[in-house]
Amino acid sequence: MADTDLVLVDRAGPLATVTINRPDKLNALNPRVLEALGVVFEALTKTSDDAEPVRAAILTGAGKAFVAGADISDMASITPSEGKRFSEIGQRLCASIELLPFPVIAAVNGYALGGGLELALACDFIVASENAKLGLPEVTLAVIPGFGGTQRLMRRVGIGKARELVFTADTLNAEQALGLGLVNAVFPAAELLLRARDIALKIASRGPLAIAAAKRVMLRGESLDLAAACELETQAFASLFGSEDQRSGMKAFLEKTKVAFSGK
Ligand code: COA
Repeated sequence: MADTDLVLVDRAGPLATVTINRPDKLNALNPRVLEALGVVFEALTKTSDDAEPVRAAILTGAGKAFVAGADISDMASITPSEGKRFSEIGQRLCASIELLPFPVIAAVNGYALGGGLELALACDFIVASENAKLGLPEVTLAVIPGFGGTQRLMRRVGIGKARELVFTADTLNAEQALGLGLVNAVFPAAELLLRARDIALKIASRGPLAIAAAKRVMLRGESLDLAAACELETQAFASLFGSEDQRSGMKAFLEKTKVAFSGK
């Protein structure tokens, strides 16, 4: 399969749907898939004359899996230094998704295991189909998550539960993941993408500069103490005043009219 076929992109207005397309291997992540994802997300940040800017994206998988993990056949015989490189490639991709100026929703349509769950955790939040299965089974292979999963999972669900999930390698079903706050919502499989798009469209209708600022301060603030994080919030809050969108948004509220934000 050509690298350009490994990740598919569908653009519709302000939304982009990114689909990992290696269904015969349950979308297992090898370096080519990771690189293709990086290229695709980078391209979505560029504006062009023939398409609206992306305001929200959905990441999903083709077939019955979101992603069943990093590709074990690629990892089976690698050395520690190759392992370091693989981890760095995966971590770089995850960090780049977190730094995108628009939210990315992971639509988990089946297995999200190992690197698959790590990738979903790098998205802004996760919605899942009723048949989803999520977990970090790396210790069953005598390794640990290497794409940031140990760190992001404990930030998402708390350190005790994250330890249990990493140490036992237990897989959660969608309802269990919902109960932990690992996923935000569970939908019937046939509705997953539609429902994810509804959420993404709502986000896309809000002030884009505000969404980017909120994403940025929540990401940075997570690893700061509260006072420093609030200082960051103040700076971002202040910087939004005077934008065209802030002026037109508040004016529209006061005049009881509707507004379409320009991102300026
Ligand atoms: N790496 C490489 N190949 C993988 C893979 C992975 N992480 N996960 C699935 N595949 C491949 C299988 O080897 C199989 O390939 P084949 O048809 O050439 O034999 C194909 O995808 C279909 O998977 P299969 O195991 O037959 O599907 P299943 O429905 O019976 O089981 C899983 C699904 C997810 C339970 C099972 O594939 C699995 O346990 N995968 C590994 C999960 C894992 O440990 N991930 C963490 C990696 S660090």
